[in-house]
Amino acid sequence: MSSTTEASAGRAQIAARTLRTDRWWLPPLANFVGLALWVVYATVRAFMQDWYFVPQYNYLTPFYSPCVSNGCVEQAAHFGRFLPDVWWLPYASLTLPFLLLFRLTCYYYRKAYYRAFWLSPPACAVAEPHKKYTGETRFPLLGQNLHRYFFYIAAIISLINTYDAIEAFIKEDGSFGLGLGNIILVINVVMLWAYTVSCHSCRSIIGGRLNHFSKHPLRYKLWVQVSRLNGKHMQLAWTTLATLAITDFYIMAVSAGWFADLRIVG
Ligand code: FES
Repeated sequence: MSSTTEASAGRAQIAARTLRTDRWWLPPLANFVGLALWVVYATVRAFMQDWYFVPQYNYLTPFYSPCVSNGCVEQAAHFGRFLPDVWWLPYASLTLPFLLLFRLTCYYYRKAYYRAFWLSPPACAVAEPHKKYTGETRFPLLGQNLHRYFFYIAAIISLINTYDAIEAFIKEDGSFGLGLGNIILVINVVMLWAYTVSCHSCRSIIGGRLNHFSKHPLRYKLWVQVSRLNGKHMQLAWTTLATLAITDFYIMAVSAGWFADLRIVG
C-alpha cells in the first residue's frame, strides 16, 4: 500500500477538533432541540388516551389513527376495536411503531440524529468523539436497510389518514360540515403524502432498475416529479412534524373544550 493510500484511509492528523470557524454547531443543536421536543410531545400524546376525537365533527387526530383499542370511542374506531385497553398501549399501536420506524430509518432523519444525538460526526469536517466507526454495517444499524419496507407501510397509513380527513367532512348527524379542523386535517394529509412520496426509497422504486428511461415514459415522468419532491425531502420532514403536531394539538384543544372549532359550513 502506498503512503498516499494509507494517508487517505484515515482522518487528517490535526490537533484541533476542527478548523471550521463558522457556527457549525448551530444546525445539530437546532435539530437536537426540535427533535427532542417533538418526541416528548408525541410520546405524551400517544399515551394520554384522551382528547383525541371530536365526535360532533368526526375529527380524529392522526396520533390515534386508526383507533383500534377497546378503549377507543366507538365512533372513532373506523377499523374495529381489538387491542386491550391498557395504559401502556397507545390506541393506535398498530401503526405508530411503523411510523416511528419509517422516520427513524429515513435518510434525512438519519443524517439529522446521527449528527445531533450521536455527534457521529456533529458536522462536516468536525471530528467525532467516537474512536471506532462501523457505519451501518452491523446490527442494529444494519436494520436501516429495511427503510423501503417501512415506506410501503407508511403509504398505507397515509391512505388511512386520507380516509380520516375525508370522513371528517361528515358530521355526527350525517350532514356535510366544514370547519378550520377540516382544513388543518387536509393540509396535514397533503403534506404527509408529499413527505412519503418524496422518500428516497419511493424514488428508487419508481425509477430504479431501468436501463432505458426512453422505454418507460410513464415511469420516467413520475420519477421526474418524485425527484423534484425528493429535493425538498428535508423541508417536508420538518413540515410534517409541524403539521402533525398542529393537527393533534388543534383536535386536542377542541375535544377538551379549550376553544370551539371555527365553523365555515354547518
Ligand atoms: Fe426519508 Fe424515505 S428517505 S422517508
